[in-house]
Amino acid sequence: MTTRKPDAIAILGGTGDQGLGLALRFARAGRPVVIGSRKEERAATAADEVRKAVPGADVVGLENAEATRRADIVILSVPFEHTAGTVKALKDVLAPDQIVVSMGVPLATAIGDGAVRTVGVWQGSCAELVDSLVPDGLAVVSAFQNVASHRLQDLAHDVECDVIVSGAKAARERVMALCRLIPGMRAVDGGPLANARYVEGWTALLIGLNVRYKVSEGMGFRLTHLPGGA
Ligand SMILES: NC(=O)c1ccc[n+]([C@@H]2O[C@H](COP(=O)([O-])OP(=O)(O)OC[C@H]3O[C@@H](n4cnc5c(N)ncnc54)[C@H](OP(=O)(O)O)[C@@H]3O)[C@@H](O)[C@H]2O)c1
Repeated sequence: MTTRKPDAIAILGGTGDQGLGLALRFARAGRPVVIGSRKEERAATAADEVRKAVPGADVVGLENAEATRRADIVILSVPFEHTAGTVKALKDVLAPDQIVVSMGVPLATAIGDGAVRTVGVWQGSCAELVDSLVPDGLAVVSAFQNVASHRLQDLAHDVECDVIVSGAKAARERVMALCRLIPGMRAVDGGPLANARYVEGWTALLIGLNVRYKVSEGMGFRLTHLPGGA
């Protein structure tokens, strides 16, 4: 039986830009990282890339199901249109004591339209779609939608953005603690999971802003006058 490593973070689709960026940041913070992929070889290649950038990193690359078994916290980093299929494939692997982090954004690219607008999701948001598919008792938390992959991968600089974290309180607080591992990332308590619908939409707005202001590395949001700085 596979044992979960204390503090490990699994990132499914961690071979892509966003997942790899988070893997680099968490590895640099000293957390064990498990990169998941549909193909173990691709995951292993991504793990090598993390080790190259972060010498001594505790990182492995595994097929998505095996990666899921290795961590309490599982971050979904696949395109929105493949979210339901990915979660359904893990139905018998996910356990009620795990936390699944939804980072997906229902960009209209999913239906062949542009990335500066979203499509409606019956459940209200990508995060709530995920919530409708996971085993009973498992907590889904929404986070990281408004962070650009370029900023995450650029280890020479702090990311400089706020991350709104939504979901059930105890799980939400664990994910907020993860945000604080990343220099320049401030965790903001986003309340219940239903608020993910606002945050997901902001990503489409950010993509348009990046185009208009020609910021190819990606902008981020900062809230003002936040008491205590979260
Ligand atoms: N990129 C950004 O700046 C950014 C910013 C905010 C939020 N996000 C969100 O983060 C998530 C990942 O973004 P990304 O840009 O990293 O995406 P991506 O590179 O397009 O895809 C990420 C990974 O998803 C897996 N994947 C692709 N097709 C799949 C399929 N049919 N079924 C299952 N898995 C599939 C692939 O991993 P394998 O081939 O290895 O399985 C791929 O490496 C998305 O939900 C996106 O909305 C991204």
